[in-house]
Amino acid sequence: MKKFFAIVFSSMLLLTGCAGSQEENEINQENNNQSNQSSAELEESSSEDIVATDQYGRGAQSDGQDTNSTEEVVRELSEDSDAIIIYFSRSGNTENLVKMMQDQTNADALELTLDEPYPADYDETVERADEERESENFPEINTEMPDFSQYDHIYLGYQTWSMTLSNPMISFLEVNGEALDGKTIYPFSTNAGYGEGDSIERIQEMLPNSTVEESFSVEDEDATSSQDELEDWLAGQ
Ligand SMILES: Cc1cc2nc3c(=O)[nH]c(=O)nc-3n(C[C@H](O)[C@H](O)[C@H](O)COP(=O)(O)O)c2cc1C
Repeated sequence: MKKFFAIVFSSMLLLTGCAGSQEENEINQENNNQSNQSSAELEESSSEDIVATDQYGRGAQSDGQDTNSTEEVVRELSEDSDAIIIYFSRSGNTENLVKMMQDQTNADALELTLDEPYPADYDETVERADEERESENFPEINTEMPDFSQYDHIYLGYQTWSMTLSNPMISFLEVNGEALDGKTIYPFSTNAGYGEGDSIERIQEMLPNSTVEESFSVEDEDATSSQDELEDWLAGQ
């Protein structure tokens, strides 16, 4: 069934041009331009709390371990919060949403990191991600998991990859899905303009015993200006 979806999906991508020909070339061109920025420029932008808006995830440098290579891994756990934000962010966009959400909720926050971080280079990341998806051999997460029994509400943050859930979030759900049984899930994500794809269906499929609420998804370059929409989404939960 998954293979069927993958074939239909790839055909859709080819038809729409998304992650396919012209759009991909445009995105790649943009990545290359961004990748050519000097390290001083990158350092300057990553020293901000929020990644500068010219550093969209399509091309922003990242060691995959943490946003833009220079920041500490986020792990903010309390003893009494009943909500937690669990997220992966290769290049900072999804983490930008997390920072905005932390101002608006009392949720704990847990950033997922990988045994083998993705390359900073976008094209190499796409190549590796494609191989992982085709072989269904998703990356190992090396984050030490807290006891999730404390939490009733789970904000799940990820990014669209190949019009579905990104590989690290698939890994997380494969290993930890059962620990989220009975909990309420609030998916949020960023993308390069093509939306969240079938990621919500994928989450529902992987978390059959959880309640999946309405999601929030925003284009990477609009993430930092989506405060109002984000607030509305949080208020509606
Ligand atoms: C491997 C890979 C595949 C991607 N595939 C898509 C896609 O199919 N559709 C889309 O809109 N954006 C796609 N993107 C763009 C990311 O979803 C977008 O830049 C996102 O904001 C990155 O989030 P992050 O900075 O938190 O990692 C892809 C990015 C990568 C690295």
